[in-house]
Amino acid sequence: MDIGGLKKMALEEIDKAIDLVGLDNVYKKYLGKKGEIASFFGSLKNLPEKDRKEVGRCLNSFKKLLEEKIKIKEQEFKKSLKLFKNNKLDVSIPGKKIKTGHLHPLTLVKRRAENIFGEMGFSIAQGPEIEDEWHNFDALNIPKNHPARDMWDTFWLKNGKLLRTHTSPVQIRYMKKNNPPIRIIVPGRIFRHEATDASHEINFYQLEGLMIDKDISISNFKAIIQEFFSRFFNKVIEARLRPSFFPFTEPSFEVDMSCVVCEGTGCSVCSSTGWIEIMGAGMVHPNVLKAGGLIPRQKAKDTGWQGFAFGIGLDRLTMMKYKIDDIRLLYSGDIRFLKQF
Ligand code: DAH
Repeated sequence: MDIGGLKKMALEEIDKAIDLVGLDNVYKKYLGKKGEIASFFGSLKNLPEKDRKEVGRCLNSFKKLLEEKIKIKEQEFKKSLKLFKNNKLDVSIPGKKIKTGHLHPLTLVKRRAENIFGEMGFSIAQGPEIEDEWHNFDALNIPKNHPARDMWDTFWLKNGKLLRTHTSPVQIRYMKKNNPPIRIIVPGRIFRHEATDASHEINFYQLEGLMIDKDISISNFKAIIQEFFSRFFNKVIEARLRPSFFPFTEPSFEVDMSCVVCEGTGCSVCSSTGWIEIMGAGMVHPNVLKAGGLIPRQKAKDTGWQGFAFGIGLDRLTMMKYKIDDIRLLYSGDIRFLKQF
């Protein structure tokens, strides 16, 4: 006589019953005149005299438990039936939507960029957001008192350190620790002591790139960056280099990409030029390679190193991808904005 097994089964069946009819069936099966419990009681007489009392007590408490459980469930069913009949329960009302969280648009763009560069053999490097003056400026060929420092409005800390104004210092940190060939990207947060407006924030995100080897040229850079943008925007994108100045590169470029909206024919996004300014880049300056502990290449076939670096604004890229016209939205925490991604 397995009362335990029977109890488990009966309780499960009560649980699974979905309406009064189902519950009634369970009742009949266990508590009915010819039900399981009755037949257990019937076979009590086959047990040795001394066990009968104890087993009988067990059966009785089992019976009581089942009666109670069935009663409770029956009341629940009746209650909802009554609500239903009184029209208080409107089954046509749609269920509650479960709200799920999701990634921030900047994170989506950062991860997409990391994947694409990853496929092209770049690994991810990181550096500190609180940086020292040497890594952020001096090592990048921006000496003290040089007017080029004005390109970056800086948050200085009381201890003489600063909040990094760009991801470029990670170039130096990486070169000091790793031997070429180098192929890295550095996605990260940076800080500028500036007034904010639709296209300026005091903190935003950059993605630095650095590729160092024996024969890396500007054409390698152009090919890689065109490939990156084409994969990122899922259409063929062309890059255009314009001469510019950055202390840490020589020559330096401002890089434009063909307009993703009009594909080069001219529209309001690209001010009818067909091009959108997207990043700075150049061939790494020999002084920067030296600060990173590498010997710069001086003439063809010598043993020195050379390569390119670039810095993409991830916020700009996000704004273009999702057609956002104010950078401040990205940091507003406004749910109405964030819900759209
Ligand atoms: N660090 C530059 C900035 O914040 C961006 C940049 C320009 C990075 C040219 C580079 C580069 O690596 O080669 O404005």
